Amino acid sequence: MGSKQSLLLVFLSFLMLGFVSSHHLSNEGLELHGSSSGRSLQQDQTCPEVENMNYTVLTSQCKGPNYTQERCCEPMKQLLCPIAAKFNDLSSPCGRIFFCNVDYLGNYPPRLFAGLCKEGKKGLDCRKYI
Ligand SMILES: *[C@@H]1O[C@H](CO)[C@@H](O)[C@H](O)[C@H]1NC(C)=O
Ligand SMILES: *[C@@H]1O[C@H](CO)[C@@H](O)[C@H](O)[C@H]1NC(C)=O
Repeated sequence: MGSKQSLLLVFLSFLMLGFVSSHHLSNEGLELHGSSSGRSLQQDQTCPEVENMNYTVLTSQCKGPNYTQERCCEPMKQLLCPIAAKFNDLSSPCGRIFFCNVDYLGNYPPRLFAGLCKEGKKGLDCRKYI
């Protein structure tokens, strides 16, 4: 029956979501996306999640010359953790677009976030933000 099939589909997509979602922001993602400021974006790539994001929480706290983990990394996690799965997917443009927007809005030095925000082998812990 149709309804059984769609239930199965819903169930399967939950499984897949669970599989790719993450409680961490990966170090690879941060290195790759967060250290390439100025690299141009391919125009056909979009990421609605980060395009409609309110960056104020980050740009209002993370200000130079005194960049700290507390004031830069925590708000960064607050914004990125809800889309951690996409961020960790290196084939998704979301991470790149995020840092492109953030660097533009905050006029941050290159590699600020990749250099500053380090927690451990697994990456940045998101459990507080999901
Ligand atoms: C973004 O968030 C700030 C507070 O963090 C709020 O003052 C501002 O109105 C928000 N902007 C938009 C466009 O929602
Ligand atoms: C930067 O922040 C640290 C810790 O909050 C503080 O000890 C230091 O004085 C600050 N430096 C400047 C230049 O504001």
